[in-house]
Amino acid sequence: MFRKNVRVLVAGAGGFIGGHLVCNLLKAGFQVRAVDRKPQWQWYQRYGEAENLTLNLEEKEACIQAANGCDEIYNLAADMGGMGFIELNKGKCMLSVLINTHLLQAAQICGVPRFFYASSACVYAGYKQTETSNPGLKETDAYPADPEDGYGWEKLFSERMCRHFMEDFGIETRVARYHNVYGPNGTYDGGREKAPAAICRKVITALRSGKLEIDIWGDGLQTRSFQYIDDCIFGTRAIMDSQIRQPLNLGSAEMVSINQLVAIVEDIAGVKLKHNYQLDKPKGVRGRSSDNTLIKELLDWEPSISLREGMEKTYAWIYDQIASEKSDSSIVNRF
Ligand code: NAD
Ligand code: GDD
Repeated sequence: MFRKNVRVLVAGAGGFIGGHLVCNLLKAGFQVRAVDRKPQWQWYQRYGEAENLTLNLEEKEACIQAANGCDEIYNLAADMGGMGFIELNKGKCMLSVLINTHLLQAAQICGVPRFFYASSACVYAGYKQTETSNPGLKETDAYPADPEDGYGWEKLFSERMCRHFMEDFGIETRVARYHNVYGPNGTYDGGREKAPAAICRKVITALRSGKLEIDIWGDGLQTRSFQYIDDCIFGTRAIMDSQIRQPLNLGSAEMVSINQLVAIVEDIAGVKLKHNYQLDKPKGVRGRSSDNTLIKELLDWEPSISLREGMEKTYAWIYDQIASEKSDSSIVNRF
């Protein structure tokens, strides 16, 4: 539907998922206010048709400026990354509570009726994720609470704040629990990258250097499911537009080991590397996947883009970035 009179705030628009969401909303005819803390030359995607603002949304006044005049808010802003970042930066991750708190208050002050919060599979209890053969996490597995230390606690707290702002102040809040999202126009180096992008970068670097080895964190047997960005954006919009008031999994149910992920990338690249397992690196939970029973029941849909298909596109994008790194610095994320 073309929604030219609806003004939407995308918080975290300079990031990976935020950039794709802005693109999608502009195509659908929304008026978009895109906000990020980073200077705009560092945004992964920036569109002239949007109103682009650089603001620190940890500040309440900045949130009010961002929310003013908007009909909907998508909060995708957070200080986050893959395991290499969240395991070593728990305090920074928890400070993102300021962003969601002040954005919710700004929505209340400015009369914004609808609010989306990007939560995470990291809210799920650690004791449900101790085996590689994870059967898939159900929404109810978040309690009794034992989330990822730091980052996961912030996400769980912010989910509940959304719920209580809905109950107490009538803001229609929607919450998706994203499982590991990957795709083009995201972080692939610098320390915040997640496994799919990191493995692509490492394979490409091995090929370019001729040193046919790859460092893999952990023993490679740990499992995850990875969701391609197009599924994530479709699901985000569907959840926002729905009447579903409870947090919902938004993730793929195609669970693979990290060794299987590496094998897919090696196959795409046409190479077989020597694997060096680094047991002292951040590993996170032992096994994680998404149980999609609830989203299928409520939306009659679930993410379906295969890991192989998504990784081909992701690998091609990262390959091009690395090939052109010296000639186009605006693409590279510089935290
Ligand atoms: P990202 O790091 O690419 O984007 C987040 C953006 O938020 C960045 O551009 C950053 O500059 C911005 N930001 C941080 N602090 C800010 C502040 N104080 N004010 C304004 N902007 C600020 O991350 P992403 O992968 O696009 O993730 C988006 C959201 O989805 C985050 O809330 C993240 O926790 C959540 N999430 C992502 C994944 C994933 O696999 N990518 C998984 C689970 C949850
Ligand atoms: N990042 C990274 N880099 N991970 C690697 C690497 C590497 O080079 N090699 C192996 N791994 C392993 C990690 O040790 C971990 O066991 C697994 O790959 C997945 O790591 P990440 O992709 O970094 O994170 P995650 O899946 O544990 O958690 C991510 O997804 C959550 C949502 O499901 C994080 O991005 C969280 O912030 C996010 O909320």
